[in-house]
Amino acid sequence: MEIVELKKGIYWVGAIDWNVRDFHGYSTSLGTTYNAYLILDEKNVLVDTVKATFYFEMLGRISEIIDPSKIDIVVSNHVEMDHSSSLPQMVERIGNPMVITSERGQKGLEKHYRRPMNFKVVKTGDTLSIGQRTLTFIEAPMLHWPDSMFTYVKEDRVLLPNDAFGQHIASCQRFEDELGDEVMKHAAKYFANILWPLAPLILKKIDEVVKMGIPIDMIAPSHGLIWRKDPGRIIQAYLNWSQGKAGEKILVVYDTMWGSTEALARAVVKGLMEERVEARLLHLRSNHRSDIIEEMLEARGILFGSPTLNNGIFPTLGDFLTYMKGLKPKGKVFGLFGSHGWGGGALREMRKILEQEKFEVWEKELSVQYIPDSEEIKKAVEFGKEFAKKVKGA
Ligand code: FEO
Repeated sequence: MEIVELKKGIYWVGAIDWNVRDFHGYSTSLGTTYNAYLILDEKNVLVDTVKATFYFEMLGRISEIIDPSKIDIVVSNHVEMDHSSSLPQMVERIGNPMVITSERGQKGLEKHYRRPMNFKVVKTGDTLSIGQRTLTFIEAPMLHWPDSMFTYVKEDRVLLPNDAFGQHIASCQRFEDELGDEVMKHAAKYFANILWPLAPLILKKIDEVVKMGIPIDMIAPSHGLIWRKDPGRIIQAYLNWSQGKAGEKILVVYDTMWGSTEALARAVVKGLMEERVEARLLHLRSNHRSDIIEEMLEARGILFGSPTLNNGIFPTLGDFLTYMKGLKPKGKVFGLFGSHGWGGGALREMRKILEQEKFEVWEKELSVQYIPDSEEIKKAVEFGKEFAKKVKGA
């Protein structure tokens, strides 16, 4: 196996999952990696492990570098099983090493694996000398779970933040500069689908790390590529995304039963384009929900188009709204349109869901019975134009 050395004596020993296509509802169309890191010093340290099915891949990489039984310490930055489900096997293979984790990390690992381990609990600011190097621990609750923490290698200026700053991509490359600008698209999708609801905590955590005055040359997350050329770029992107900075892009997210809502959606997009805003038409059965969420990160306005089915919302819209509301996108303006046969109900139901979550919903709606005629299509174009003006003025 190719040995990947990040800095002298610090190695990537993770696994590449080329085949995973769903990560709790997020489409990982290019797979992912589970990154673990090995630090050789007077005390040898393994930071995180990999998903259990990839245990032997990790073990193989470690064995190319040292005898795994020579590992003294395992740091578990995060309990979620993509990083910890190899831990019990690894601990057994090493022979009861010290397992460093946060207080909630210990509780989580005990509840997951129900076996004794030689735990050492750390909190923010705690340090551990491992010889030539010092590890500093920084608790990062809810980035991604309550137990999450970062490990910082002071002498090498390397931050190991687990889920934060990651991307879901399986590739031959290990470093962001080897992939080029494409890495930002993967990082944006990852942030939008996993970390967006935690934006206020991210802002606080970045501020806290800046105030700790720790210089960072490299950020090595637990998924995807390692930021070695320009780690400041991903930190700045996280600041922008967490602050809800967006352009004037407007999304039209819709589904259709017999083509009427689609005809309205296309007319609405025409109106948006006449107002010279960047518009995206996104059919919910042609675009995965997690790709639409990524588009939302850079959008200011979102229009939802739904036919009425059984006096209510169309199922794909229901699925999308359920997924979206948990991600708590901030600073967006929403609008609603659709078609119905007799009583209607989809727009009422969508408005209720959005308003309950305290999203800003434009009071104007467009609702058409059966098939839109030419006058109604003109109204849809005007509806799009008005929404564009509202968003531009927001
Ligand atoms: Fe990659 Fe929260 O686990």
